Amino acid sequence: METVLSGIRPTGNLHLGNYFGAVKSFVKMQDEYNCYFFIADWHSLTTHPKPENIRQSTRTILAEYLACGIDPEKAAIYVQSDLKQVLELYLYFNMNAYLGELERVTSFKEKVRKQPDNVNAGLLTYPTLMAADILIHRADKVPVGKDQEQNMEMARLFARRFNRIYEVEYFKEPESFHFNHKAVKVPGLDGSGKMGKSEGNAIYLVDDEKTIQKKVMRAVTDSGPTVPNQEKPDPIQNLFTLMELVSTPDTYNYFNDKYNACEIRYGDMKKQLAQDINAFCAPIRERILAIQGDDDYLLKVAKLGAEKAEASAEKTLREVRQIIGFRV
Ligand code: ADP
Ligand code: TRP
Repeated sequence: METVLSGIRPTGNLHLGNYFGAVKSFVKMQDEYNCYFFIADWHSLTTHPKPENIRQSTRTILAEYLACGIDPEKAAIYVQSDLKQVLELYLYFNMNAYLGELERVTSFKEKVRKQPDNVNAGLLTYPTLMAADILIHRADKVPVGKDQEQNMEMARLFARRFNRIYEVEYFKEPESFHFNHKAVKVPGLDGSGKMGKSEGNAIYLVDDEKTIQKKVMRAVTDSGPTVPNQEKPDPIQNLFTLMELVSTPDTYNYFNDKYNACEIRYGDMKKQLAQDINAFCAPIRERILAIQGDDDYLLKVAKLGAEKAEASAEKTLREVRQIIGFRV
């Protein structure tokens, strides 16, 4: 059976971008694959979060994974820092990772621009830690959003390079996985790029009805189409993209036809979109609220996940140590 792995950094609540870009695939894949889903708390240290924020966010993401439908009996759900074996593999990959290639990674260059006072080595080696996360279970498939593509290429590069250096066929190259074969990019409602925590434009799964309504009604629009069937400018296309994700095809087609006939009323469309987002989030929100206070249950889930993950990680490390030339 093929192995699937993915992780999300604990930097706040999950939003619609995380859900449709990643977590939805997790839920669908757990029935067919050997799955590992983790919380990337080591990765979150690159921005120096406060201890209480890490603790809180880790618990939140764990509860939200479960509320979205990841089943701890089917998939291993664990916290990255509970799996110490990853650190050893991270060290080995760092020995084969070159400064120039790490410096050329787009997300590294972006961080250098965004946090010039904190260009730490952890930021630079973010892709080697991510490769270690993936390859410690020798994962075949990694469900992630489009923005992770370069990190995935690096993981494949480190897998290939390890094999080449040691003249083995040990690591398979992990492939990025997208349900429906298309990388999803959930847009923000501010008219520009993707929905994201740091973009400040996210609708969170835990948001209540009023909050959702407020966020959607504030979305950027224009003065409306003037020519039938005209192409949609980005902010309008974004509304339709979101609608395609949460509304029925009938609803989507209704507003699409209105747009094409130059009869669209954005106010109506937004009201409908807010309603449909709320209908989508409400059951998940209820489960989040029910689970997140249950520390005993969350601890139990994380412990069970870590045990499953450890068994697989230990096996890989034993083999890697032997390949590298260490006594085992
Ligand atoms: P954020 O951008 O809010 O910090 P993360 O970088 O922690 O989110 O992303 C966690 C996962 O969710 C990754 O697999 C990422 O590809 C996916 N993801 C995040 N935002 C989006 C989005 N707007 N569209 C699609 N996938 C997304
Ligand atoms: N880099 C991913 C993100 O920012 C999180 C992550 C860490 C990850 N390790 C991973 C994702 C391994 C998939 C596989 O969202």
